[in-house]
Amino acid sequence: MTQAPIKAPNLTPQTSDTINVTLRVNGKAHTLQIEPRVTLLDALREYIGLTGSKKGCDHGQCGACTVLADGRRINSCLSLAVMYDDVEITTIEGLAHGDELHPVQAAFIKHDGFQCGYCTPGQIMSAVALLEEGCPTSDEGIRECMSGNICRCGAYPGIVAAVQEVRASQG
Ligand code: FES
Ligand code: FES
Repeated sequence: MTQAPIKAPNLTPQTSDTINVTLRVNGKAHTLQIEPRVTLLDALREYIGLTGSKKGCDHGQCGACTVLADGRRINSCLSLAVMYDDVEITTIEGLAHGDELHPVQAAFIKHDGFQCGYCTPGQIMSAVALLEEGCPTSDEGIRECMSGNICRCGAYPGIVAAVQEVRASQG
């Protein structure tokens, strides 16, 4: 007797509902249709095409994905994009004015604040926020305030020197 063919399970991924989100990034509005579970980092990189913010750990432990939300630094890998509807987001791509680098970018170059450069966008965004927050004057204080940003290359001395230079120039 012939057996009825075994029916293969339906492995087609289920599509979830999407919603509209408007992200304001570097002064420009982007309206996206995304699933509510999409992180801000993925929205920036995969949907908007701003790949400067890096995905290091994807778990809030390395700081490579740091961006500014209304001027405050956040780990974009831990943040859902839908939570930032109409919040002003700044990424590394939004710092320079044309060919003129942001002072923190210029100081990182001057002081060799990077090696492979993977952590650098997050380090720079964190440093920019730190200088706005009110930067400690000691190297130790700066290290403490930058401790959420990990550099596997160990470029820390250059990073601290860069932050110190910009801090001093701000008086
Ligand atoms: S990628 Fe977000 S903290 Fe590491
Ligand atoms: S420069 Fe390579 S991880 Fe920091």
